[in-house]
Amino acid sequence: MNRSNLKAAAFAAAAAALPCLWQAGATPALAQEPAAKPAAQAAKVERGRYIVSTSGCHDCHTPWIVGPKGPEPDMTRALSGHPESMTLPPPPKADGPWVMTAAATNTAWAGPWGISFTANLTPDPETGLGKWTERNFRETIRSGRHMGRGRPVLPPMPVQVYRNWTDADFEAVYAYLQSIPAIRNRVPEPLPPAAPVAASR
Ligand code: HEC
Repeated sequence: MNRSNLKAAAFAAAAAALPCLWQAGATPALAQEPAAKPAAQAAKVERGRYIVSTSGCHDCHTPWIVGPKGPEPDMTRALSGHPESMTLPPPPKADGPWVMTAAATNTAWAGPWGISFTANLTPDPETGLGKWTERNFRETIRSGRHMGRGRPVLPPMPVQVYRNWTDADFEAVYAYLQSIPAIRNRVPEPLPPAAPVAASR
């Protein structure tokens, strides 16, 4: 066979293979044009992962355990919020300039606002952000109110920091949070501040 015959044979073989590809449900090369879309989504998720990992979300929304090098976020429960199974005694009384107490998991805080518990940010539909839209997420943080109109988001959630994100940042963080493994964990509602000491005397 000379060179052009070889080429022709190769072409014929490839052409003959095509119907098999069709039967196997494979997409022929020409139909693969809109590959840019998943790539853009992947870039958005990656940017969201970067923002989350450099903005302290794990510090408060991933329960801490004592690892070999000391306390660290337990990444097997990444961003699942205050563990529902954890029972807490009443916090110690605030004394002078010491106004805030944190639980060992770094997911529950007592302060002048009462007791707050970090939310489950995973996409679990019942106990996490699974039913939240990107708009719910953006409006909550921009306004500092649940869903943009509910109760104020309590300390120490740094809404005053994250509200400075651009729309693109919100989209990226939301896309990332929706892409992580869903963990079922129902976080308790916050508790109101204890009655002032004077009133209880
Ligand atoms: C210093 C601790 C802290 C850090 C850091 C933190 N959060 Fe929070 N977050 C909280 C607490 C506490 C709550 C619960 C507040 C409440 O119940 O009002 C909360 C609640 C939330 C809520 C739910 C608000 C609602 O109304 O349901 C979202 C969403 C959220 N955080 C996202 C994030 C993201 C994303 C990051 C990182 C960019 C982050 N948080 C970092 C402490 C923190």
